[in-house]
Amino acid sequence: MAVLEIKGVTKRFQTTTAVDAFSLNVADGELVCLLGPSGSGKSTLLRMVGGFETPSDGLIAIDGEDVTRVPPERRPTGMVFQSHALWTHMNVFNNLAFGLKLRHLQSAEIRRKVEAVLDLVGLGGYGARQTGQLSGGQQQRVALARSLVLEPKILLLDEPFASLDQHLRERLREEVRDIQQRLRITTLFVTHGQDEALALADRIVVMRDGRTEQADRPDVVYRQPETPFVAGFIGSMNLLDGVVANGVFTHSGLTVPLAVSDGVATLAVRPEALDIVDVAGSGMATIHRVTDYGTHAVVDIELPDGVRLKAMVPDARNWNAGQPVALKPRAFAAYRDNAAIFRSLDANG
Ligand SMILES: Nc1ncnc2c1ncn2[C@@H]1O[C@H](COP(=O)(O)OP(=O)(O)OP(=O)(O)O)[C@@H](O)[C@H]1O
Ligand SMILES: [Mg+2]
Repeated sequence: MAVLEIKGVTKRFQTTTAVDAFSLNVADGELVCLLGPSGSGKSTLLRMVGGFETPSDGLIAIDGEDVTRVPPERRPTGMVFQSHALWTHMNVFNNLAFGLKLRHLQSAEIRRKVEAVLDLVGLGGYGARQTGQLSGGQQQRVALARSLVLEPKILLLDEPFASLDQHLRERLREEVRDIQQRLRITTLFVTHGQDEALALADRIVVMRDGRTEQADRPDVVYRQPETPFVAGFIGSMNLLDGVVANGVFTHSGLTVPLAVSDGVATLAVRPEALDIVDVAGSGMATIHRVTDYGTHAVVDIELPDGVRLKAMVPDARNWNAGQPVALKPRAFAAYRDNAAIFRSLDANG
């Protein structure tokens, strides 16, 4: 059992408020991704949970015990940093054994635990290797293993794979997910990759300026973003500012029926929910570019005022730059005053 409670935590650095009255409960065995743009306070929050930073205000509790001012080495937390801070003068085995020796475990037990964890991260037999002789991905696995070997109640990961290439990152995050589920370890995972968050998380917390913008299951964050910020941050999204009058939204010649009161509104349409129609030369929008991704294509469309939108189409071959088209949003949401005021049934496709 390991439950993490963060209650009204604030962290001020001189003039910056990095984390602002932030609250979050993480359930036993849950994996929560903190997602947000650079500078939104993700690392600061994680560092406070790990004990590397002291909150200016608020409380952090693990299994009901207040740890707000407990130093890192006395917390039941394990942290993996972005840059693999391995000890380069020690081999892999000693990197992992170090923390166990500090706990005065017997050497046979240390060996057993280290070997088990190396197996777990797919590095069985690598104990004698010098860390400098490992690839970047292997080094990050060692960093993960070094945290896991101490059997933390809470695992904290701060963009652990950011320095790795796309393929390796995808593979390692799947491995982390498997390990996390096998050990049922309560985990906070920082990323600014939305794909990573969607693939990994039981719950995503979208952060902005040190606060929670939305905290929900990945499918909810993706399909029902509560604010234009979340809508624009997760996945690809067309956001279009316009005006609603008599039940019709208008922006630069594009009109969409929208059953809300008159006033300004921001329309949000996913590329996969924006249909383009060949109207035999009479369309008011123009195709600017077609990018063929093989499995699908993305068409960039320019409105008369120069604003660009993206539409996803199954086949690039039907569409060409310069072609006039009409736009038909199949599903969309609308926002006003930073809140959702409308969602069509199949919102965001
Ligand atoms: N030690 C510090 N002293 C002063 N300001 C700091 C310190 N650490 C962080 N900050 C500021 O706090 C804010 C949040 O920083 P933080 O590192 O938590 O962001 P982040 O969300 O992790 O960003 P990134 O995605 O770039 O890693 C930033 O404005 C940053 O400049
Ligand atoms: Mg950070």
